[in-house]
Parts: sequence; C-alpha cells; structure tokens
Amino acid sequence: MMSPSPAGPPTGRPADPPAGPLTEPPASFTPSTGPPDDWTFRVDGLTKRFGAVVANDDITLRVEPGEVYGLLGPNGAGKSTLVKQTIGLLKPTSGRITLGRFDLVADPDAARQLCSYLPQVQMPIDSFHVSEAIELAGRIRGGSAREVRGRTASLIDTLDLGEWKNALGHSLSGGVRRLVGFCMAIVRPGRVVILDEPTNDVDPLRRRLLWEEIRALGAHGCAVLLVTHNVLEAEKSVDRLAVIHKGRLLAEGTPSSMKTADRSQLRLQLMLAPGTATPGLPPWAGPAVRVGNNLVTTIAEADASVAITWAAEMTNAGAAEEYALGAMTLEDAYIRLTSHMSGNDDDAEDG
Ligand SMILES: Nc1ncnc2c1ncn2[C@@H]1O[C@H](COP(=O)(O)OP(=O)(O)O)[C@@H](O)[C@H]1O
Ligand SMILES: [Mg+2]
Repeated sequence: MMSPSPAGPPTGRPADPPAGPLTEPPASFTPSTGPPDDWTFRVDGLTKRFGAVVANDDITLRVEPGEVYGLLGPNGAGKSTLVKQTIGLLKPTSGRITLGRFDLVADPDAARQLCSYLPQVQMPIDSFHVSEAIELAGRIRGGSAREVRGRTASLIDTLDLGEWKNALGHSLSGGVRRLVGFCMAIVRPGRVVILDEPTNDVDPLRRRLLWEEIRALGAHGCAVLLVTHNVLEAEKSVDRLAVIHKGRLLAEGTPSSMKTADRSQLRLQLMLAPGTATPGLPPWAGPAVRVGNNLVTTIAEADASVAITWAAEMTNAGAAEEYALGAMTLEDAYIRLTSHMSGNDDDAEDG
C-alpha cells in the first residue's frame, strides 16, 4: 500500500496512526440493508446542476478502505462540487453517494460522522492557537482529551509545525494554515477522508511530509478521496485516480494504467535557449507544446535514435541548452485527456 515518497527519501516519520478502531456510526443511524463490514465508498450516477451549468455529469466511482484515490482535473472541472455532496453541503440533482450500507445523501448526520473533510477554502482559525484548534477539532469529532492531545502532538511533530504550535491562527502563512487545517481534518479521521487540494501553498519539504501522512491514513484503513491538480505529486502518491473535466469523468485507473494508451510513444523535451523561436519540427514528431523555453513533443519508439541525433544537433547549434527523451508521464496523458495545461499552482477559484 505504501508508495515511494514523491520527492526522494523521507525526512520524517509518519505520525502514529490514530489509536483505536476506526469511527463507528452511532446506533441512532438507520442503515439500509447490507453487510456491516462493508466500508466501500461509492458514487453512483451523480449529477449536479447549477442552472445551466452541469458541474457533475453522471459520475460513478468507488474508493475501497485503505485506498488513496486521486480526483484530478483543471479548475472548474467539478471536483469540489463532488466532494461537497458527499458530506451534505450540496444536494445532488440525481444519483447516489453511499458508504457501505449508509446513504450519505439521505443521512447527512451519518455522512459528517463517518467522513472527515478538509475544504478547499481556508478554515477560520484566526483567534485559536495552532494546537488548540487541532485539539478542538478532535474533541468535536468525539475523541477523549488524552487521545486528542497525544495525536495533536504527534501530528505537529511529523509535519514539522513545532515552531508554530502556540501561534495564533491569524499570524500564520497560507501554507502553515493549510497544514493546520489538514491536522484538524485528520486528528480523528472518519472512515472516509476527503481532502480538497491539501497541498496548496505548502512548501516542498512539508508537502512531502503531508503526502506521507496521507499514505498513513490509507495504511490505517481509511478510504482517502484526494482532490488535486498537482499531477506529478498524485502520480507518485495515489493508488488509483480519476480525471474529471467539465463535470465528466474522462478516465479512471492506476497511474500506470492511465499511461497505457501512450506506451509506444516517448516524450522528447527540448530546453530551448532563451529568446529562441520555436523550431520547425521534423515530420516524425507529434504536435508540440511550448511552455516558457520548454518544448515537449511525442515521438514513436521506432524514431528514438533519429530523434536523439536531431536533438543533439539542435543543442550543438545552440538552439537548445539540453534535451531529454523518456517515457510518457501521467501529466502527458492528463494533458491529452483534458487538452489543458496543468501541474501549476494556480488556485484562483474557491470551490
Ligand atoms: N454554488 C455554485 N453555484 C453556481 N455554480 C457553481 C457553484 N459551485 C460551483 N459552481 C460551478 O460548477 C463548476 C464546477 O466548480 P467546482 O466544483 O468548484 O470545480 P473544481 O473544484 O473542479 O475547480 C464551475 O463551473 C463552477 O463555476
Ligand atoms: Mg475546487
């Protein structure tokens, strides 16, 4: 279940998983029929309209306990709309969302008890100290004072937040606030953990710690539904993923299966010298995408040696500073699916 960390060897140790059993529903909840040990999270034919906008268009997916499932898509794809419906913040136009035998749409109280949620928008914690805010979130979710204090200390330690543990919320940078929000969401995780863009604004080192902590939730048996537009990080950290675009689920699978369609293709990347016009490409090259001085195109495996000769000539002539030929990445597959540039950190909209 553990996957390699996104950026080299880990520097931290994942926090101890939360002690004790995973959240059980209170007896007052009235489950429909079904086995009591079924904790699979299922979305079936989910459609959500806002007037003329179809934000979710007949989406079906499932997340097993222990699985980290990535939901990828450009801004406005419908990711936040989907996760908000799972915890009763929005009502579906049609379709079902269930956790085992529990109907999360019909029973929003059960949904909030059984699911943990980090919203895309920052949490209002201005007048709380960091450790206080995390402990409070754990108490609200039913943890004992002792359990919640221990888990809070462990999370602050693992995510390297010690220097801010007594700081007030209003004094924190965006990235630290994001991490505190993450701790609040998982201090006492539910059966399903929903994280909407958890890595936004977080620095690269703590981002790596955060991914390890997300993996630890899976190892503890939680079903993790993770919204992100960071394809490169998702590729290394999720078990399965779905690409959503304009409300529709375009593709679903493991990161490696998503690249299957591109197996016979290689990516050729040229770092052009600054100020160089985009060169005319030879006939064996596919369509090229240029971002800044970075030019990426696809070629057939059979053309690898002629491509290297061409790229080396471009480099020797000074048109390019360097080149690389390698396997297609998930990002290439993603761009092909959505015809959209991504992998950036733009996050203008809130969800
Ligand atoms: N409360 C709302 N009222 C009207 N339109 C909305 C609302 N929330 C989201 N939308 C629209 O639904 C679409 C999907 O939005 P969202 O789920 O936030 O996308 P994402 O999280 O993938 O960026 C967008 O076109 C957005 O403008
Ligand atoms: Mg969103």
